[in-house]
Amino acid sequence: MKFNITVLPGDGIGPEVTREAVEIINVLGEKYGHSFELTEEKLGGCAIDACGVPLPDKTLETCKSSHAVLLGAVGGPKWDGLPGNIRPEAGLLGIRGGLGLFANLRPAVIYSSLKEASPLRADIVRDGIDIMVVRELTGGIYFGKRGREKTPSGSEAAFDTEMYSTEEIERIARVGFESAMKRNKRLTSVDKANVLESSRLWREVVIKLSSEFPEVSLSHMYVDNAAMQLVRNPMQFDVIVTGNMFGDILSDEASMITGSIGMLPSASLGNGTLGLYEPIHGSAPDIAGQDKANPIAAILSVGMMMKYSLGLESASQDVETAVKNVLDKGYRTGDIASKGTEVIGTRAMGELIKKEII
Ligand code: NAD
Ligand code: IPM
Ligand code: MN
Repeated sequence: MKFNITVLPGDGIGPEVTREAVEIINVLGEKYGHSFELTEEKLGGCAIDACGVPLPDKTLETCKSSHAVLLGAVGGPKWDGLPGNIRPEAGLLGIRGGLGLFANLRPAVIYSSLKEASPLRADIVRDGIDIMVVRELTGGIYFGKRGREKTPSGSEAAFDTEMYSTEEIERIARVGFESAMKRNKRLTSVDKANVLESSRLWREVVIKLSSEFPEVSLSHMYVDNAAMQLVRNPMQFDVIVTGNMFGDILSDEASMITGSIGMLPSASLGNGTLGLYEPIHGSAPDIAGQDKANPIAAILSVGMMMKYSLGLESASQDVETAVKNVLDKGYRTGDIASKGTEVIGTRAMGELIKKEII
């Protein structure tokens, strides 16, 4: 079959990890006889440099006419001084919003050979960690009204608004329940309903929807407790559903307990099959251009793309198996290295994973 995939390498380590992910797409195409037509476009800081805006119209249009989008990462110190609406990160929010991708799936899975790389004690991660974080992606404080104004006494003030409608909560909660139904049927909804009105509506809507999913055991947790519980006993979680900002923070935390932020892929989905696939990490300016970045999160994002947007289950399985095999053989990038393992660079890691797929 023929598929159009838009590739947005972005900034910092984005192009380095995307390059390895693209190699994986190409090898899967050869293996299964699919034609993956890749089109590269600009997003983020590189787009600001080339076109003056973080999300050029052409980029959004090309993404809209694709079957799937692969993204590296955007941002970096070079663009940090720009006003919020023309920073690289605004381009990322623009593409998520522009494509209607309200559901962000961030699976935090610990590979058995990586238990040594987790900062948690062996007895806490012994039986594995397998958490699906379902993060709302096109609402909440990221997309609410924001601005600056003067206080009555004349000092500068700034505000950002957390707002969720019933519809926005219900559609993401549904993704959470459906995901739980395919897994271990446990859903934890994370909010701050003891303080925030938006969280109280969130909880009401989730409880109402739960009647449609009687088999799912639903619990609620305040976000501060959830952050603590993730390191106390991560195995208690199956699916977590939460708002945009809480999901951003908790997924970085969840990634580290699996060994590194360089391990976590993500899928951003909307109502159709078009999806955006990206590692959850950023552009890592501290290691950019040094062949040190872990490409596994980007490669596993290709695995998610095969499954969620292209319906290619075997190809998706191949990616996960290849990553597992390479890790089992003791190869590591620096972020996941531990005693007795061999540290290799971004390119070498990508090459080894590719060879496992052929
Ligand atoms: P970051 O995720 O880029 O880096 C945090 C730390 O994790 C750094 O020490 C980095 O070296 C390390 N790290 C990240 N990815 C790694 C990988 N694949 N392999 C090994 N180590 C890795 O977060 P930050 O430093 O807070 O942000 C840097 C820039 O990235 C900022 O401009 C930020 O806005 C942007 N950002 C973009 C995205 C995205 O494009 N989706 C996500 C997060 C941050
Ligand atoms: C992520 C990032 C983004 C977010 C930023 C760069 C806008 O941290 O993808 O997790 O907060 O969503
Ligand atoms: Mn983040």
